[in-house]
Amino acid sequence: MRPGMTRRQLTAHAAWFGAAVTLTVVGGEVTSHVAGGGTAAAADNTTNLRFVQISDSHLGFQGTANTDVVGSFARAIDQVNALPYRPEFVMHTGDLTHLATPAQFDQAKQMMSGLRTGAVHTVPGEHDAIHDSGRTYRTVFGAGSRGDGWYSFDSKSVHVIALVNTFSLEKLGHLGADQLDFIRQDVAGLSSDTPIIVFSHIPLFAMYEQWGWATDDAGQALSYLRRFSSVTCLNGHVHQIFTRTEGNVTFYSATTTAYPLPHPGDSPAPTPVTLPAGALGAALGIREVRHVQGQHNLAVADRALA
Ligand SMILES: [Fe+2]
Ligand SMILES: [Fe+2]
Repeated sequence: MRPGMTRRQLTAHAAWFGAAVTLTVVGGEVTSHVAGGGTAAAADNTTNLRFVQISDSHLGFQGTANTDVVGSFARAIDQVNALPYRPEFVMHTGDLTHLATPAQFDQAKQMMSGLRTGAVHTVPGEHDAIHDSGRTYRTVFGAGSRGDGWYSFDSKSVHVIALVNTFSLEKLGHLGADQLDFIRQDVAGLSSDTPIIVFSHIPLFAMYEQWGWATDDAGQALSYLRRFSSVTCLNGHVHQIFTRTEGNVTFYSATTTAYPLPHPGDSPAPTPVTLPAGALGAALGIREVRHVQGQHNLAVADRALA
Protein backbone atom coordinates (compact mmCIF):
# COMPACT_ATOMS: atom_id res chain seq x y z
CA MET A 1 0.00 0.00 0.00
CA ARG A 2 1.27 3.41 -0.84
CA PRO A 3 1.77 5.55 2.26
CA GLY A 4 -0.84 8.20 2.74
CA MET A 5 -3.23 6.36 0.47
CA THR A 6 -6.78 6.54 1.68
CA ARG A 7 -8.92 3.46 1.74
CA ARG A 8 -10.87 4.82 -1.21
CA GLN A 9 -7.70 5.36 -3.24
CA LEU A 10 -6.45 1.93 -2.30
CA THR A 11 -9.69 0.30 -3.38
CA ALA A 12 -9.78 2.39 -6.53
CA HIS A 13 -6.25 1.33 -7.36
CA ALA A 14 -7.17 -2.31 -6.94
CA ALA A 15 -10.28 -1.73 -9.03
CA TRP A 16 -8.14 -0.22 -11.78
CA PHE A 17 -6.75 -3.69 -12.27
CA GLY A 18 -10.14 -5.32 -11.99
CA ALA A 19 -9.38 -7.15 -8.78
CA ALA A 20 -12.30 -8.95 -7.15
CA VAL A 21 -11.19 -8.00 -3.69
CA THR A 22 -12.25 -5.90 -0.76
CA LEU A 23 -9.51 -4.28 1.26
CA THR A 24 -10.17 -3.53 4.89
CA VAL A 25 -7.94 -1.22 6.86
CA VAL A 26 -7.90 -1.78 10.62
CA GLY A 27 -5.32 -0.04 12.72
CA GLY A 28 -2.83 0.22 9.90
CA GLU A 29 -3.30 -3.36 8.86
CA VAL A 30 -4.63 -4.08 5.40
CA THR A 31 -6.54 -7.30 5.07
CA SER A 32 -7.67 -8.63 1.71
CA HIS A 33 -10.93 -10.51 1.71
CA VAL A 34 -11.26 -12.27 -1.60
CA ALA A 35 -14.82 -12.52 -2.82
CA GLY A 36 -16.37 -15.68 -1.47
CA GLY A 37 -13.66 -16.19 1.09
CA GLY A 38 -13.36 -15.73 4.82
CA THR A 39 -10.70 -14.30 7.04
CA ALA A 40 -10.17 -17.44 9.06
CA ALA A 41 -10.56 -15.74 12.38
CA ALA A 42 -9.41 -17.44 15.52
CA ALA A 43 -10.04 -21.01 14.48
CA ASP A 44 -6.39 -21.91 14.58
CA ASN A 45 -5.45 -25.36 15.56
CA THR A 46 -2.78 -27.80 14.65
CA THR A 47 -4.25 -28.48 11.20
CA ASN A 48 -4.19 -24.86 10.04
CA LEU A 49 -1.19 -23.42 8.25
CA ARG A 50 0.27 -20.05 9.19
CA PHE A 51 3.29 -18.67 7.43
CA VAL A 52 4.95 -15.36 6.63
CA GLN A 53 6.08 -13.91 3.31
CA ILE A 54 8.81 -11.29 3.18
CA SER A 55 10.29 -9.93 -0.01
CA ASP A 56 12.73 -7.69 -1.82
CA SER A 57 15.23 -6.88 0.91
CA HIS A 58 17.90 -5.75 -1.56
CA LEU A 59 20.83 -6.08 0.87
CA GLY A 60 23.58 -3.92 -0.59
CA PHE A 61 21.25 -1.28 -2.04
CA GLN A 62 22.55 2.25 -1.59
CA GLY A 63 20.36 5.21 -2.35
CA THR A 64 18.09 7.85 -0.92
CA ALA A 65 15.02 5.58 -1.15
CA ASN A 66 16.41 3.67 1.85
CA THR A 67 19.76 4.49 3.39
CA ASP A 68 19.60 1.47 5.74
CA VAL A 69 18.17 -1.61 4.02
CA VAL A 70 19.94 -3.85 6.56
CA GLY A 71 18.19 -2.05 9.41
CA SER A 72 14.82 -2.35 7.65
CA PHE A 73 15.34 -6.06 7.07
CA ALA A 74 16.30 -6.51 10.72
CA ARG A 75 13.10 -4.75 11.76
CA ALA A 76 11.05 -7.02 9.51
CA ILE A 77 12.69 -10.07 11.08
CA ASP A 78 12.00 -8.70 14.57
CA GLN A 79 8.38 -8.17 13.57
CA VAL A 80 8.06 -11.80 12.48
CA ASN A 81 9.66 -12.93 15.71
CA ALA A 82 7.21 -10.82 17.74
CA LEU A 83 4.16 -12.56 16.24
CA PRO A 84 2.05 -14.30 18.89
CA TYR A 85 2.65 -17.65 17.17
CA ARG A 86 5.52 -19.38 15.43
CA PRO A 87 4.90 -19.42 11.67
CA GLU A 88 5.25 -22.83 10.07
CA PHE A 89 7.70 -21.29 7.62
CA VAL A 90 8.92 -17.96 6.29
CA MET A 91 9.21 -17.54 2.52
CA HIS A 92 11.42 -14.80 1.12
CA THR A 93 10.23 -14.15 -2.43
CA GLY A 94 13.48 -12.86 -3.85
CA ASP A 95 15.77 -9.93 -4.39
CA LEU A 96 17.38 -10.95 -1.12
CA THR A 97 20.40 -9.04 -2.35
CA HIS A 98 20.86 -6.04 -4.60
CA LEU A 99 24.00 -7.14 -6.41
CA ALA A 100 24.25 -10.89 -5.74
CA THR A 101 27.68 -10.75 -4.09
CA PRO A 102 28.72 -13.64 -1.84
CA ALA A 103 28.91 -11.21 1.11
CA GLN A 104 25.34 -10.02 0.51
CA PHE A 105 24.04 -13.60 0.28
CA ASP A 106 25.90 -14.55 3.46
CA GLN A 107 24.41 -11.56 5.27
CA ALA A 108 20.89 -12.47 4.09
CA LYS A 109 21.34 -16.06 5.18
CA GLN A 110 22.78 -15.11 8.54
CA MET A 111 20.04 -12.58 9.27
CA MET A 112 17.29 -15.03 8.33
CA SER A 113 18.82 -17.68 10.56
CA GLY A 114 17.48 -15.51 13.40
CA LEU A 115 13.87 -16.03 12.29
CA ARG A 116 11.67 -17.80 14.83
CA THR A 117 10.03 -20.25 12.44
CA GLY A 118 9.99 -23.89 11.46
CA ALA A 119 11.79 -23.34 8.15
CA VAL A 120 13.12 -20.54 5.95
CA HIS A 121 12.52 -20.82 2.21
CA THR A 122 13.51 -18.56 -0.67
CA VAL A 123 12.97 -18.01 -4.38
CA PRO A 124 15.49 -15.93 -6.31
CA GLY A 125 14.91 -12.47 -7.74
CA GLU A 126 16.65 -11.10 -10.80
CA HIS A 127 18.95 -9.09 -8.51
CA ASP A 128 20.07 -12.43 -7.02
CA ALA A 129 21.22 -13.55 -10.45
CA ILE A 130 22.88 -10.44 -11.85
CA HIS A 131 26.34 -11.83 -12.55
CA ASP A 132 26.05 -15.57 -12.84
CA SER A 133 22.51 -16.77 -13.68
CA GLY A 134 21.97 -17.65 -10.04
CA ARG A 135 25.01 -19.86 -9.37
CA THR A 136 26.01 -18.03 -6.18
CA TYR A 137 22.38 -17.94 -5.07
CA ARG A 138 22.10 -21.70 -5.46
CA THR A 139 25.35 -22.26 -3.56
CA VAL A 140 23.88 -20.48 -0.54
CA PHE A 141 20.15 -21.18 -0.84
CA GLY A 142 19.74 -23.99 -3.35
CA ALA A 143 20.01 -27.05 -1.09
CA GLY A 144 17.35 -29.58 -1.98
CA SER A 145 16.18 -27.70 -5.05
CA ARG A 146 16.10 -28.91 -8.64
CA GLY A 147 17.00 -27.36 -11.97
CA ASP A 148 17.71 -23.66 -11.58
CA GLY A 149 16.47 -23.78 -7.98
CA TRP A 150 12.81 -24.77 -8.05
CA TYR A 151 11.25 -27.17 -5.54
CA SER A 152 8.05 -28.13 -3.79
CA PHE A 153 7.02 -29.32 -0.34
CA ASP A 154 3.98 -30.05 1.77
CA SER A 155 3.10 -28.05 4.85
CA LYS A 156 0.11 -29.16 6.92
CA SER A 157 -2.47 -30.05 4.26
CA VAL A 158 -1.14 -27.55 1.69
CA HIS A 159 1.13 -28.24 -1.29
CA VAL A 160 3.70 -25.48 -1.85
CA ILE A 161 5.54 -24.92 -5.15
CA ALA A 162 8.50 -22.51 -5.32
CA LEU A 163 9.41 -21.36 -8.82
CA VAL A 164 12.26 -19.52 -10.53
CA ASN A 165 11.31 -16.98 -13.22
CA THR A 166 14.25 -14.58 -12.99
CA PHE A 167 17.31 -16.28 -14.41
CA SER A 168 16.96 -15.42 -18.04
CA LEU A 169 18.09 -11.81 -18.01
CA GLU A 170 17.27 -11.32 -21.69
CA LYS A 171 13.84 -12.70 -21.03
CA LEU A 172 12.77 -11.90 -17.48
CA GLY A 173 9.56 -13.45 -16.31
CA HIS A 174 10.09 -16.86 -17.87
CA LEU A 175 9.76 -20.38 -16.46
CA GLY A 176 11.03 -22.51 -19.34
CA ALA A 177 10.21 -25.99 -20.56
CA ASP A 178 12.08 -27.93 -17.83
CA GLN A 179 10.33 -26.08 -15.03
CA LEU A 180 6.92 -26.37 -16.68
CA ASP A 181 7.54 -30.10 -16.89
CA PHE A 182 8.44 -30.16 -13.22
CA ILE A 183 5.15 -28.44 -12.31
CA ARG A 184 3.10 -30.81 -14.45
CA GLN A 185 4.68 -33.87 -12.86
CA ASP A 186 4.73 -32.38 -9.38
CA VAL A 187 0.96 -31.99 -9.17
CA ALA A 188 -0.01 -35.01 -11.28
CA GLY A 189 -0.62 -37.27 -8.29
CA LEU A 190 -2.41 -34.73 -6.11
CA SER A 191 -6.12 -34.80 -5.47
CA SER A 192 -7.94 -31.74 -6.83
CA ASP A 193 -8.98 -30.59 -3.37
CA THR A 194 -5.35 -30.20 -2.25
CA PRO A 195 -4.77 -26.47 -1.62
CA ILE A 196 -1.91 -25.21 -3.80
CA ILE A 197 0.32 -22.24 -3.01
CA VAL A 198 2.80 -21.07 -5.64
CA PHE A 199 5.68 -18.70 -4.91
CA SER A 200 7.64 -16.82 -7.53
CA HIS A 201 9.57 -13.57 -7.62
CA ILE A 202 8.02 -12.02 -10.74
CA PRO A 203 4.21 -12.17 -10.83
CA LEU A 204 2.58 -15.11 -12.60
CA PHE A 205 -0.17 -12.73 -13.73
CA ALA A 206 0.25 -9.79 -16.10
CA MET A 207 0.46 -6.99 -13.56
CA TYR A 208 2.18 -4.56 -15.94
CA GLU A 209 3.86 -6.05 -18.96
CA GLN A 210 5.37 -2.74 -20.06
CA TRP A 211 7.72 -3.02 -17.08
CA GLY A 212 8.20 -6.76 -17.35
CA TRP A 213 5.86 -7.41 -14.42
CA ALA A 214 4.56 -10.62 -15.94
CA THR A 215 5.68 -14.17 -16.80
CA ASP A 216 5.34 -15.05 -20.45
CA ASP A 217 4.70 -18.78 -20.02
CA ALA A 218 2.73 -18.61 -16.75
CA GLY A 219 -0.44 -19.60 -18.59
CA GLN A 220 1.04 -23.02 -19.27
CA ALA A 221 1.97 -23.45 -15.61
CA LEU A 222 -1.48 -22.39 -14.45
CA SER A 223 -3.13 -24.78 -16.90
CA TYR A 224 -1.73 -27.64 -14.82
CA LEU A 225 -3.37 -26.14 -11.75
CA ARG A 226 -6.79 -25.48 -13.29
CA ARG A 227 -8.43 -28.57 -11.79
CA PHE A 228 -7.52 -27.56 -8.24
CA SER A 229 -10.17 -25.85 -6.15
CA SER A 230 -7.75 -23.63 -4.23
CA VAL A 231 -4.74 -22.03 -5.95
CA THR A 232 -2.92 -19.01 -4.55
CA CYS A 233 0.12 -17.38 -6.15
CA LEU A 234 2.33 -15.11 -4.04
CA ASN A 235 5.06 -12.97 -5.60
CA GLY A 236 7.48 -10.14 -4.94
CA HIS A 237 9.41 -7.95 -7.40
CA VAL A 238 6.86 -5.13 -7.70
CA HIS A 239 7.49 -3.74 -4.19
CA GLN A 240 3.81 -3.02 -3.59
CA ILE A 241 0.69 -4.79 -2.42
CA PHE A 242 -1.71 -5.87 -5.08
CA THR A 243 -4.35 -8.59 -5.55
CA ARG A 244 -6.15 -10.07 -8.48
CA THR A 245 -8.39 -13.10 -8.99
CA GLU A 246 -8.53 -14.90 -12.33
CA GLY A 247 -10.64 -18.03 -12.51
CA ASN A 248 -9.60 -20.43 -9.75
CA VAL A 249 -6.40 -18.53 -8.97
CA THR A 250 -5.83 -15.60 -6.62
CA PHE A 251 -2.61 -13.63 -7.00
CA TYR A 252 -1.04 -11.49 -4.31
CA SER A 253 1.92 -9.20 -4.92
CA ALA A 254 3.83 -8.37 -1.76
CA THR A 255 5.53 -5.22 -0.61
CA THR A 256 9.23 -4.96 0.15
CA THR A 257 11.45 -4.53 3.18
CA ALA A 258 13.71 -2.13 1.24
CA TYR A 259 12.15 0.66 -0.86
CA PRO A 260 8.93 1.35 -2.79
CA LEU A 261 8.59 1.29 -6.56
CA PRO A 262 6.09 3.45 -8.46
CA HIS A 263 2.63 2.24 -9.25
CA PRO A 264 2.34 0.97 -12.83
CA GLY A 265 2.34 3.84 -15.25
CA ASP A 266 2.96 6.50 -12.60
CA SER A 267 6.56 6.91 -13.72
CA PRO A 268 8.54 6.33 -16.93
CA ALA A 269 10.38 3.42 -15.31
CA PRO A 270 10.18 1.25 -12.17
CA THR A 271 12.96 3.05 -10.29
CA PRO A 272 13.16 3.40 -6.47
CA VAL A 273 10.85 6.03 -4.98
CA THR A 274 12.23 8.31 -2.26
CA LEU A 275 9.41 9.16 0.13
CA PRO A 276 9.23 12.14 2.48
CA ALA A 277 11.06 11.69 5.78
CA GLY A 278 9.22 9.35 8.13
CA ALA A 279 6.99 7.84 5.45
CA LEU A 280 9.14 4.88 4.45
CA GLY A 281 8.11 2.43 7.19
CA ALA A 282 4.47 2.49 6.08
CA ALA A 283 5.50 1.45 2.56
CA LEU A 284 7.51 -1.53 3.81
CA GLY A 285 6.16 -4.57 5.54
CA ILE A 286 5.64 -8.25 6.09
CA ARG A 287 2.74 -10.50 5.11
CA GLU A 288 0.99 -13.02 7.33
CA VAL A 289 -0.87 -15.80 5.57
CA ARG A 290 -3.23 -18.33 7.07
CA HIS A 291 -4.88 -21.34 5.53
CA VAL A 292 -7.71 -22.97 7.41
CA GLN A 293 -8.36 -26.55 6.43
CA GLY A 294 -11.49 -26.82 4.31
CA GLN A 295 -11.49 -23.18 3.19
CA HIS A 296 -10.62 -22.35 -0.39
CA ASN A 297 -9.27 -18.87 0.13
CA LEU A 298 -6.28 -17.91 2.21
CA ALA A 299 -6.46 -15.11 4.74
CA VAL A 300 -3.75 -12.61 3.84
CA ALA A 301 -2.79 -9.78 6.19
CA ASP A 302 -0.24 -7.25 5.00
CA ARG A 303 1.33 -5.38 7.89
CA ALA A 304 3.38 -2.23 7.61
CA LEU A 305 6.84 -2.32 9.15
CA ALA A 306 6.47 -1.56 12.86
FE1 LIG B 1 13.05 -6.04 -5.89
FE1 LIG C 1 12.96 -8.09 -8.69
